[in-house]
Amino acid sequence: MVRIGYIVGSFAEDSVNRKLAELLVAQAPERAELMEIDIRPLPLYDRHLDAEFPEEMAAFKKEAAAVDGLLLVSPEHNQSFPAPVKNALDILTRPPKQGVLAGTPMGIAGASPSRFGTINGQTQLRSFLPLLGVKLMGTPLMAVQVTGDTFTEDGADAALVRRAAKYMDALTTWVEQHS
Ligand SMILES: Cc1cc2nc3c(=O)[nH]c(=O)nc-3n(C[C@H](O)[C@H](O)[C@H](O)COP(=O)(O)O)c2cc1C
Repeated sequence: MVRIGYIVGSFAEDSVNRKLAELLVAQAPERAELMEIDIRPLPLYDRHLDAEFPEEMAAFKKEAAAVDGLLLVSPEHNQSFPAPVKNALDILTRPPKQGVLAGTPMGIAGASPSRFGTINGQTQLRSFLPLLGVKLMGTPLMAVQVTGDTFTEDGADAALVRRAAKYMDALTTWVEQHS
């Protein structure tokens, strides 16, 4: 059994990325245990906080260190990933030499009404996470274009459900092999 902590990069109450995260959690294989690592309580990082992390930052870092792998499900804001996601990732790399990101297996996913479905934001994440030592899963991609039919009261679109199951199986294998 591997433990995968998932981070939702949107703070919106009706977030489509939270819906995608919930779908991915629901479709995870039995050999994976998923738990949310909530970034909403995090203060903005400042290097003066390295001397003593505020409680919320210390707790967040501890939760991220306790899992075998991470799953980031994030929107795209202005062709990039949102600032709270960068803040959270920065916190996980600090204080110097006490970061917990290096060596961590990770998958990224995102949803957007755009037909490119967060791919630009994901590409930017892919440009620096490996440089931090993150073992980033390459494929399958999970960049989802959300329409009115994607998430309904009856559940998610059947093709997306199948895709989510394949993605979570691949991510679980990735975490098993790299943690
Ligand atoms: C500040 C801002 C910038 C946005 N920029 C993009 C963008 O670059 N690409 C995109 O696909 N959607 C963009 N959107 C639309 C979001 O994809 C859409 O609001 C989506 O619902 C956000 O995900 P969420 O519901 O999980 O918060 C932007 C939205 C906001 C609020």
